[in-house]
Amino acid sequence: MEEALAAFLGKEACHVTAAGYLACTCSISSLAQRGDALIVDPNIHSSLWDGVLLSGAKIERFAHNDMDSLAKLLAELDPKQAKVIAVDGVYSMEGHIAPMPRLMELAGQYQAVVVVDEAHSIGILGRNGRGVCDQFGVTEQVELICGSFSKALASTGGFVAGSRTLIEYLRSNSRQIIFSAAISPAAAASARASLEVMQSEPEHHERLWTNYRHLKAILERLGLDFWNSPTPALPIVIGDKMKCYELWKSLWDQGFFTVMSLPPGVPPGKELLRCAVTSLHTTEQLDRFGDALKVGMQRAGIQPKS
Ligand SMILES: Cc1ncc(COP(=O)(O)O)c(C=O)c1O
Repeated sequence: MEEALAAFLGKEACHVTAAGYLACTCSISSLAQRGDALIVDPNIHSSLWDGVLLSGAKIERFAHNDMDSLAKLLAELDPKQAKVIAVDGVYSMEGHIAPMPRLMELAGQYQAVVVVDEAHSIGILGRNGRGVCDQFGVTEQVELICGSFSKALASTGGFVAGSRTLIEYLRSNSRQIIFSAAISPAAAASARASLEVMQSEPEHHERLWTNYRHLKAILERLGLDFWNSPTPALPIVIGDKMKCYELWKSLWDQGFFTVMSLPPGVPPGKELLRCAVTSLHTTEQLDRFGDALKVGMQRAGIQPKS
């Protein structure tokens, strides 16, 4: 599985863990240490954040997905300080894509190493779903790619991929790898099978994007705010806890499951329902979801955006 995944991602080596959380946390906590600068988009997943906190490095935040803000921050830092930049390829709550070309340009200019969490971009972006680094042709320059099997790879587990030397270093130095049991054979086999399907049956990938466009059009027609998500991680931003709950409950009663995300999972005022459209949804199901949303909006007193 590790060899197959390394080859798929275009990295020399890969280590598989029992959860994406472990892989993402160790990618940061083993790479950065006290005295280094850890430069983060504040919207990174908690698994990267926990790695940031465990590392003891100095935390420097730039505004979400804002490369001018990153450029300003990098210019202000001590040129001699070791720097690690951590981003999500696709942000799990917003669905936003990290602007990798400009980010890599800045990382090169200021000699920062880059770690990308591809949990939500594997299977979604890039050739046959190889992820955001592949989509923008920056795989080689990115130091570590980490992610989860719990999204497009339809299993549980996680991975971290990079140079052979770095992966060997993580294997003997990362607490998340040393002190946690390996993935179960069944979970590894499921993820491996998904990886094969991803490469041999591109129609699922195409179907996923058709479904994304269809659901996005429904949300637009209903005047709902989907935070301009350009990916199948489609949020419906309500901005009010009780209305969010009322809509969630109404959808549930009509047979639809969404995930309610409230602060601190999202910034205050961004209370939302997460929808994850997949390649297996039918057009008819998505249309019925649109009808259910209309009923739910009325029940929850949600007005269309003007
Ligand atoms: C962006 C991101 N990274 C990492 C993880 C952690 O993955 P896992 O659930 O496999 O521990 C998740 C969520 O599950 C996630 O959304």
